[in-house]
Amino acid sequence: MIRLDGRTALIAGGTGGIGAAIADLFTEAGANVVVAGRRSVAGRHRSVSFDVSDDNSVAGGVAEARQLLGGRIDILVNSAGILSEASVAEMTPEMWNQTLAVDLTGVFYVCRHVVAGMIEQRWGRIINIASQLGIKGAPSMSHYVAAKAGVIGFTKSLALEVAEHNVLVNAIAPGPVETAMVAGVTEEWKQAKRRELPLGRFGVVEEVAPSALLLASEPGGNLFVGQTLGPNSGDVMP
Ligand SMILES: NC(=O)c1ccc[n+]([C@@H]2O[C@H](COP(=O)([O-])OP(=O)(O)OC[C@H]3O[C@@H](n4cnc5c(N)ncnc54)[C@H](O)[C@@H]3O)[C@@H](O)[C@H]2O)c1
Repeated sequence: MIRLDGRTALIAGGTGGIGAAIADLFTEAGANVVVAGRRSVAGRHRSVSFDVSDDNSVAGGVAEARQLLGGRIDILVNSAGILSEASVAEMTPEMWNQTLAVDLTGVFYVCRHVVAGMIEQRWGRIINIASQLGIKGAPSMSHYVAAKAGVIGFTKSLALEVAEHNVLVNAIAPGPVETAMVAGVTEEWKQAKRRELPLGRFGVVEEVAPSALLLASEPGGNLFVGQTLGPNSGDVMP
């Protein structure tokens, strides 16, 4: 029932996983969608390529996406992300820096190149995909947890900056969801995580994407400012 007719959307990290499910749902709801990944793919949606950890690459890719979308980006979803496992004692600075560069700085870079246009057009919705681990913490994932806690804080600050221009910025902090990202995590970690979840199971992407549709929509999304929605199998109750 929720429609996005006449709206344009850029989904960074929309070539896979949660981002791709959001791109599918937004398209079904009538939005004009462009997805972005590190490499351009011949998928279901029109795509541009940029590396979120490279500001120049983001600048070029966002400009291309804006052109494909007829000169305006109404809705931005930041879903690009990477995940790896190492204890703090074993983590290399390279591993730490790479994760922060993609999962946190990447969100800043994409927002930086999109938000001015939203302010100018006096309408915008930004939805950053954080993680419940950014609230709860997780062993062997301090880099990822720090980045995701950063995304939640960044979301609140940007929300405060731009709400008066009718640009609404929010986050979604999913619990564990069956995607390529989680397929890379050890079975031991996954079993321990399942035991922690009140629902006893991971989610699937179709159970997360509707939270993004709500935040992007009118009137349902109109009162969300700097919030973090938690489709998380009950893992965290902030
Ligand atoms: N799967 C989960 O359990 C889970 C839980 C909470 C939060 N998240 C978050 O959801 C988001 C999506 O993750 P997913 O599970 O769909 O993973 P995924 O691996 O299926 O998708 C991630 C997407 O990000 C893209 N990407 C990675 N690095 C990039 C870069 N440098 N530049 C541009 N694109 C890049 C990939 O190409 C891919 O399309 C991530 O931010 C992740 O941290 C996932």
